[in-house]
Amino acid sequence: MKTLVVYYSLEGNTEYVANRIKEKIGADVLRLVPKKDYPKKGFGKFFWGGGSSVTEESRELEPYDVCLDEYERVILGFPVWAARITPPLRTFIEEHKSKLIEKNLVAYACQSGNGAEKAFAKLAEGIGVDGFEKTAVFLDPKSKHTEEKDNQIEAFCEMLK
Ligand SMILES: Cc1cc2nc3c(=O)[nH]c(=O)nc-3n(C[C@H](O)[C@H](O)[C@H](O)COP(=O)(O)O)c2cc1C
Repeated sequence: MKTLVVYYSLEGNTEYVANRIKEKIGADVLRLVPKKDYPKKGFGKFFWGGGSSVTEESRELEPYDVCLDEYERVILGFPVWAARITPPLRTFIEEHKSKLIEKNLVAYACQSGNGAEKAFAKLAEGIGVDGFEKTAVFLDPKSKHTEEKDNQIEAFCEMLK
């Protein structure tokens, strides 16, 4: 099944999973890059990132080139911010909602603690679907890397084959 992984990642964890999926199942990958990215360090990271998630803002994205018509399945990846999806992914969804509804949709989230289930519900609601074909949650798979987390990503990829 021709698959596209669309993701936003501030600190590389969500990107780490996207790249594993690309390698393991041969998916195409689209990284969302906001025109104005969030601070990667310190208080500002949580202040601006958390704040913009809570207010559910959209963030203008750098131009990207994708034709969703080419794909049967779309995998949406995001870091959980304040138990929500990240604004760059929200922007993408707003731009492509009508096409996304027609796809086999899978979602994965990276987080440090909890909130992913609430974020998946918000994501589904934002797209206008009841839920996802599959979901997966990874706990800081790059910044707190372990072999067990790699095995979890591997198992997720196997389910996607
Ligand atoms: C602004 C902000 C808010 C966050 N909120 C949550 C949260 O609600 N729950 C959680 O478990 N982790 C939270 N985190 C941690 C990230 O979701 C986690 O570290 C994730 O793996 C980062 O993915 P990334 O490296 O792709 O950016 C937050 C991080 C940031 C920067």
